[in-house]
Amino acid sequence: MKSQYEIGMVGLGVMGRNLLLNMADRGYSVAGYDKDAAKVAALRKEAANQAISGAKSLPEFLELLRVPRAVMLLVPAGAPVDAVIHDLLPYLARGDLIIDGGNSHFSDMELRTTKLSERGIQFLAVGISGGEHGARHGPSIMPGGPRDAYERVRPIFEAIAAKVNDEPCVAWLGPGSAGHHVKMVHNGIEYGLMRLIAEIYDFMKRGLGFTDAQIHSVFDRWNHEELNSYLVEITADIFARIDEKTGRRLIDVILDEAGQKGTGMWASQDAMDLQVPIPTIDVAVAMRNLSGYKDEREEAAHVLHRPLSHCEGDRLKFIGQLRSALYAGMIITYAQGMALLAVASVKHEYHLNLEKVARVWRGGCIIRAALLEDICAAFQARGDLPNLLLDPNLSNKVMEHQENLRSLVCAASQLGIPVPGLMVSLGYLDAYRSAWMPANLIQAQRDYFGSHTYERVDAKGAFHTQWSSE
Ligand code: 6PG
Repeated sequence: MKSQYEIGMVGLGVMGRNLLLNMADRGYSVAGYDKDAAKVAALRKEAANQAISGAKSLPEFLELLRVPRAVMLLVPAGAPVDAVIHDLLPYLARGDLIIDGGNSHFSDMELRTTKLSERGIQFLAVGISGGEHGARHGPSIMPGGPRDAYERVRPIFEAIAAKVNDEPCVAWLGPGSAGHHVKMVHNGIEYGLMRLIAEIYDFMKRGLGFTDAQIHSVFDRWNHEELNSYLVEITADIFARIDEKTGRRLIDVILDEAGQKGTGMWASQDAMDLQVPIPTIDVAVAMRNLSGYKDEREEAAHVLHRPLSHCEGDRLKFIGQLRSALYAGMIITYAQGMALLAVASVKHEYHLNLEKVARVWRGGCIIRAALLEDICAAFQARGDLPNLLLDPNLSNKVMEHQENLRSLVCAASQLGIPVPGLMVSLGYLDAYRSAWMPANLIQAQRDYFGSHTYERVDAKGAFHTQWSSE
């Protein structure tokens, strides 16, 4: 059946294959292609009774698609995306549309758009979150690029996206690379939240001496309270899982080194470029990097010897404190990510509606959480809110929980348990609410050693002092 299929997918890995099956479930006819013939064969087998076709070559794949064609790419970020575009180009025609659904760096969009528009081909850059399960049953989708191009695929995206109160978790977010930028910040927040949860785990394990079963029930209970979120939910599940090979809890046979594909680091790099402080996310990236220094850490454990001590007294009283500290840390992490988006939106001319972004994140994605309802309400009340910590509701919550965050950071530091994510979250909070900061001293030092000049509180202009007589 030539020219029949409504949309095509290049890349039949975990995300591409599941998205394609999701589309087929919603009644769309879809064609898939992968340079790995085994993946095409697997798709054909799985989709025997559905309106799904697997093509063995690119020309065959493109012939299957209804004209003008809509081709979605789910291939690894970077060079593979350009390679696929390069291979597709000879077969594409004016009016066709390419959709990059991978975790591409937002800055790659511009060049690709220019290259494709010379041929009359449109390009959409779409962030997709939710992993394998989300792709199959309802992801959160963050499209950016030409609005008219989005309108072409909107019905499909709305059909496959996660739903919250019947509302699809997808919306056109802005022009150009808006979609991929929002996805990058989503991942930065993801890194931050994962780091905070890991620190809470560390405190429960090494500070309180909790068993995996106890840790499981604590996270499980929290997931039914205000901390309700996907990441807390899966954390509870993880602590319950038994390893088939050893019969032990699986978590205890997993190596303590965490990899990364780079999106969290990109968020930190962009924040540095835009001079937006997002220290919780920066620390999360740094700690993943430190986890990779396993050999050095093992050596240092002997050289920098200081035995971890355990909490004395009523260990259960810490549970409430940990919950509260995590909640405050989570609000502060979202606040940093949203503050980055607010600045990036102006700088990159995305004209983002941050309430819309938060709505799209309420379902399907990795950072979905009950807290996003408060975040939506905050931006609904004030669309140009520069920082969530200025929202009356969220700031009240942070104030309510701050003492617990403070006590936990003190306790962890005394016990020798590393909680840099919680520490910098608290430090960020304390600095952000400081009407005065010691930056006057930094100005003076810069002027002292480099004649960089300084500003004064009582007069406009740039001033310089001859600080030393030498
Ligand atoms: C998502 C995730 C996903 C991400 C992986 C791995 O929203 O579904 O963010 O896109 O790529 O979770 O990320 P790292 O390898 O960087 O941890």
